Amino acid sequence: MDAVRCGGIRKSFGTGEARVEVLRGVDFQAARGEMTFLVGPSGCGKTTLISIIAGLLAADEGKVSLFGEDLAALPPREQILFRRRNLGFVFQQYNLLPSLTAAENAAVPLLAAGMKRKTAVDRATEMLGRLGLGHRAEALPRVLSGGQQQRVALARALVHEPRLIVCDEPTAALDHKSGESVMELLSTSAVHPERAVVVVTHDNRVFHHAHRIAHMDDGIITHVDAAAVATA
Ligand SMILES: Nc1ncnc2c1ncn2[C@@H]1O[C@H](COP(=O)(O)OP(=O)(O)OP(=O)(O)O)[C@@H](O)[C@H]1O
Ligand SMILES: [Mg+2]
Repeated sequence: MDAVRCGGIRKSFGTGEARVEVLRGVDFQAARGEMTFLVGPSGCGKTTLISIIAGLLAADEGKVSLFGEDLAALPPREQILFRRRNLGFVFQQYNLLPSLTAAENAAVPLLAAGMKRKTAVDRATEMLGRLGLGHRAEALPRVLSGGQQQRVALARALVHEPRLIVCDEPTAALDHKSGESVMELLSTSAVHPERAVVVVTHDNRVFHHAHRIAHMDDGIITHVDAAAVATA
């Protein structure tokens, strides 16, 4: 059973003359215990695809199942709960809440799950520490650098230990050393036999962390390479 299995995904934006078909029948899998990279030129549909996988966007056609669960078959409330429990998402544009501190932002998934505020913020602060940001836990996003905001977004995706972590360009704003430590943390999550990580990236400095690299071009997956890291 794969962590992610997508078949025949199609998605268009706009109507009439302005209609653009962005995904043209995408088949994509991510195995448990693996780190799967999704790479391809700007505008080829990577963010659109992972937004559909994460349930932030609806496909026009095709199927998505996560850990064998066909989400479309679940009632809407169950879908939301499934995603809240099982999914961590890092957005290309971070999407931090401006009035919350770094630790409060990172604690959001725990608070949504009903954890007590202090316990949640303490746990989030600990995760920020693992990402080298413990000293900025009380800071608001606007005083943080792009790279620091990206690490807060990453802490938010990891804090509730979801089975599937989906990241859009998680190292784009980071120097080489911070990028490596972020990838190492993601690898640690991915090696767990019940978990998986999907990473969209242009950053060839981190390709050696991938178990598999899916290449996308113009709305389809063109080929998949088994990559540098030996699979378990
Ligand atoms: N909400 C939207 N409305 C209209 N067009 C959109 C929308 N979202 C994306 N698109 C278009 O779909 C195409 C694919 O966008 P997408 O964001 O998936 O690309 P990407 O591969 O993630 O690119 P990048 O590497 O630059 O982030 C682009 O041409 C984009 O303009
Ligand atoms: Mg994108």
